[in-house]
Amino acid sequence: MRDLFGAELRWFQHIEETAHRVFQRHGYGEIRTPILEELEVFKRSVGESSDIVNKEMYQFTDKGGREVVMRPENTAGVVRAAIQHKLLTSNDPVLFYYIGQQFRYERMQAGRYRQFWQIGAESFGVATPESEAESLLMLYSFLQELGLKQLRFSINSVGTPASRPAFHAAFRAFFAERADRFCEDCHRRIESNPLRVLDCKNERCQAALEGHPVITDHLDEASAQHHARLKALLTDLSIPFEENPRLVRGLDYYTRTAFELLSSDLGAQSALLGGGRYDGLTKHLGGPEVPAFGWAIGLDRLAMVLQQIHGEASFTPPALLIPLGDRAATAALKLARQLWDAGVALQLETRGGALKKAMASANRLGIQTVLILGEGELDGGTVTVKHMATGEQESWPLGEMASKLASH
Ligand code: HAM
Repeated sequence: MRDLFGAELRWFQHIEETAHRVFQRHGYGEIRTPILEELEVFKRSVGESSDIVNKEMYQFTDKGGREVVMRPENTAGVVRAAIQHKLLTSNDPVLFYYIGQQFRYERMQAGRYRQFWQIGAESFGVATPESEAESLLMLYSFLQELGLKQLRFSINSVGTPASRPAFHAAFRAFFAERADRFCEDCHRRIESNPLRVLDCKNERCQAALEGHPVITDHLDEASAQHHARLKALLTDLSIPFEENPRLVRGLDYYTRTAFELLSSDLGAQSALLGGGRYDGLTKHLGGPEVPAFGWAIGLDRLAMVLQQIHGEASFTPPALLIPLGDRAATAALKLARQLWDAGVALQLETRGGALKKAMASANRLGIQTVLILGEGELDGGTVTVKHMATGEQESWPLGEMASKLASH
């Protein structure tokens, strides 16, 4: 868990502003759900066999004896909220986005934290591939507006609970033929959730998977058509993607479309974002049966990539107003108030004391314009302006400060 400030936080702010703008343009509304949720919300959605639920949750009993969890992701909470507030009872689409902290007890490495931030979008009520294309297009525009290039989604279809047993049978038969080449974890996975074997990080297991049955060959007719239609739409929209039949997500709720986007700037195995369709989740969490699709992007990772591409987010500190003496201190507060109210960015020196000390601070803070208000200036109705880069000094009339600073 880390503190965010300075240059890195400026990237966060820029990303968040872009997210609000792009998502609202697509008709999505923001939702904020609590960080604490009941344990069951995640057990029933992310899945009991997932690493997240098994090993990574910050879970405790609260003073009322409830088993609660600091949310490891936001989809389950959004679904819980949508059910609780009866937002899914009409046939209208419901479009949400969120920006918030998530918590997973993972091993620290570059771009992986125990408290991290996600920006995500969830759409409820539409089962079509068109709704997925719309959501992916929004995501793509968002990343493009941030200046990311060479984006390529990795997509797969994980079928439906009804079609999956056919794949499981073929996959288990394949596994049995070479079982001794797989790790112990994979032996557990083949029992609990065979798809997870595809996701094993062990190189020997990945080699043993050579020639494995492919889930997209075992889809029911409707899922196969859905998958083909989405691919055709993405091609028409010039959204780059590749099919990845080994793509399985670390969460259990997906049906049909699942996707990720890896970034070469993050090192191996680190996804920048991921998502997919989860048509069964609303019913599973006690609500009406409503189709849904969404994704989440790691804000910490996105900020890291942007910093690598564009360098530090630029920042110019505002001008600094330094009053000299008690009379000027009061006048400076009044002047600063006028300027702030007029929308001018300004920092006010409130420590009192010598000019030399204030100027030394201004230098250290990289301030480019210093405004000095002393007895002489007060009497003359002016402010002395010092341009730090050149050392030049001039005098500005008090009444013109707002316009001069705005155009400065
Ligand atoms: P996820 O793949 O578990 O999906 O997480 C999405 C993104 O969150 C990852 O691609 C990554 O960028 C970021 N992330 C995950 N763990 C960490 C970590 N420890 N440190 C930094 N970043 C991390 C979900 O959470 C789903 N709720 C996505 C979704 C929304 N599916 C449908 N709707």
